[in-house]
Amino acid sequence: MHTIVLAAQKGGSGKSTLAVGLALAAKQAGFTVRLIETDPQGTLSNWQRRRTANDVVVEPIYHAADIEPRLKMLADSGLQLAIVDTAAGLSAATTAAIRHSNLCLIPARPSVADIEATASTLSVARAWKRSYSFVLNQTPIRGQRIDNAAGALAEEASLDLAEVLARPLIVMRNDHQDSLASGLAVSEFAPNGKSADEIRGLWRWIAARLELDATINVLIDKVMAAADGMLHVAADLAADETTTLAS
Ligand SMILES: Nc1ncnc2c1ncn2[C@@H]1O[C@H](COP(=O)(O)OP(=O)(O)O)[C@@H](O)[C@H]1O
Ligand SMILES: [Mg+2]
Repeated sequence: MHTIVLAAQKGGSGKSTLAVGLALAAKQAGFTVRLIETDPQGTLSNWQRRRTANDVVVEPIYHAADIEPRLKMLADSGLQLAIVDTAAGLSAATTAAIRHSNLCLIPARPSVADIEATASTLSVARAWKRSYSFVLNQTPIRGQRIDNAAGALAEEASLDLAEVLARPLIVMRNDHQDSLASGLAVSEFAPNGKSADEIRGLWRWIAARLELDATINVLIDKVMAAADGMLHVAADLAADETTTLAS
């Protein structure tokens, strides 16, 4: 199971909106999906109450200690994707969710305050050696402001832009607000609109990233196992030599 966490110190950066949008985009791409809500504000639960379809379950988990065992149970049940929406700030539940994720998505609006506020979330993801990406959200359609914000995010992470910034950027459009208000995801509310296109594109970027990370992890495991095997052979050879010399 893949676990994606949406986390950002700043409220209003788009964690809940992106969680819903990505959940439905992933579902439409054939994944089984569960939305986990760790934010007591209850944006996702409220969204589900407005929703008539019962196809994507929102599961509230407000205690940090419940997150890991629940994710494990969901993984054992065969679920393919859990998307965890977190509260603003850095609560114990957010830290636990980041710790048990495969990918931490950090949404930020193109403003200095939002970009500076990514630092604390970034440091938690790094401390637990989790993959992370920024999602630039609520951007204007184009302009210098976006380029500056994208550059500042790369600087914040001291990495190349291509490595840290998810694509495409998500433009500010009413479709996002109207879809949430109607208990829908943007790809259901206006499936042929630009916002739906962007969210589907973002899901494809994330899916490719998860796949790449999984492949790299398998390779690392193989290299470690091979190195371990070689160490054993070397130790056996050294032991043989010692025995021969002693006899
Ligand atoms: N790309 C977007 N375009 C327009 N409005 C957006 C977009 N992303 C989020 N919003 C709106 O911004 C507000 C905050 O978004 P929300 O997802 O609730 O943020 P968070 O969960 O980080 O607090 C909501 O009213 C939401 O509808
Ligand atoms: Mg929220």
